[in-house]
Amino acid sequence: MSADFDVIVIGAGAAGLFCAARAGQRGLKVLLVDHNSRVAEKIRISGGGRANFTNRDLDPRAPQRHFVGGNPHFCRSALARFTPQHFIDLVERHGIAWHEKHKGQLFCDGPSQQLIDMLISECERAGVLHWQPCSVLAVRHEGGAYVLDSSRGTLRAAKLVVATGGLSIPQIGATDFGFRLGKQFGLRVVEPRPALVPLTFGGEAWSPYAELAGLALPVTISTGTGKSRMSFNEDLLFTHRGLSGPAVLQISSYWQAGAPLVVDFAPEVAMEERLREAKNRSRKQVANELAQWMPARLANAWVAQDAGLARPVNEVADRALVQLAERIGRWQITPTGTEGYKKAEVTAGGIDTRDLSSQTMESKQPGLYFIGEVVDVTGWLGGYNFQWAWASADACAQAL
Ligand code: FDA
Repeated sequence: MSADFDVIVIGAGAAGLFCAARAGQRGLKVLLVDHNSRVAEKIRISGGGRANFTNRDLDPRAPQRHFVGGNPHFCRSALARFTPQHFIDLVERHGIAWHEKHKGQLFCDGPSQQLIDMLISECERAGVLHWQPCSVLAVRHEGGAYVLDSSRGTLRAAKLVVATGGLSIPQIGATDFGFRLGKQFGLRVVEPRPALVPLTFGGEAWSPYAELAGLALPVTISTGTGKSRMSFNEDLLFTHRGLSGPAVLQISSYWQAGAPLVVDFAPEVAMEERLREAKNRSRKQVANELAQWMPARLANAWVAQDAGLARPVNEVADRALVQLAERIGRWQITPTGTEGYKKAEVTAGGIDTRDLSSQTMESKQPGLYFIGEVVDVTGWLGGYNFQWAWASADACAQAL
């Protein structure tokens, strides 16, 4: 059966658009389809509308520093071959102004639509045909080609690239298509779960903190023990239902259901020592002393949990002050769940990297490739997920 296209790419998000452009630039006849009428909706809403499109602090020799997955080393080769600088060069060639925020994060100065326009123009320059909306109803491998039943008729290609992303934000077109297709062709799928997601806390244990909604402060947050212990120094935000903010989104990718989180609310302060000093020199209320080192609302909430602390600091027993310091520095609380895919920035899990080539992204099923978030590679907050989308797309496009 003759193929109508060399390659069909399913999913016109970050990875699919970039892969289609790079493959087209190599002279391949490429069709890019998406079931949404608008492409790359996630780029549009990313980074608060300014797209945190990569991160300068990325060492491909140590991908486990910024990526999570069954095999964090899987992404090494692709990340080493297509670096943040390669993407920066592309962005600059298109005249898109950008700036660096903290921790190496690069954002567009203007709306993230500029990046989408850049990717579309790269596709058009490469002669990529793109159809949206176009839904793929069924896929089979027949006579050495991939045959797709789609809402625009039967399509055929020698090779098929799946770039349908994860399950996050279903309201803008996320589906489990990639996972189902992987399974159809005998690939293993690591159970997907929401990641970079706010965590929820229920019942009585949470009631003292519910009134703190809206409060944000820098913390150290950790989970796990021994070698699997992970910790982040970032801002934490109290919400009505639990905790969010960069610290919590980052730790959520490592959090195992049922495990506690440990939070230090004043990581820069030797709290026990400072409280003992305060006891010797001050007659202020404990809450007022604490408010030197943390937001007053938080200080009040902590003191309110122990009637013995609602008094001047010099009248509080040493033991009570030690316990207070311990609770502030090692607050332990177990999430009851997450805010789920509606709020998750990404999906952890996905196509098992044991069934993919780290050089080409081709699966065990010849001619079938998976790139971007659909793969079991999840980046940290801060531009790492887009860098994985670009790098995996490029590795794939060079091998098609
Ligand atoms: P992506 O989800 O971008 O694209 C998948 C495409 O496939 C979509 O266009 C979808 O419509 C299409 N599709 C799905 N099912 C289909 C089907 N059955 N048939 C046809 N098409 C189908 N990352 C980062 O690095 N920096 C950031 O600033 C942010 N910010 C951010 C904010 C928010 C709110 C979210 C939700 C996510 C982020 N991310 C991020 C994560 C980042 O957006 C994400 O990792 C990448 O977009 C993944 O790129 P993909 O191309 O793999 O999937």
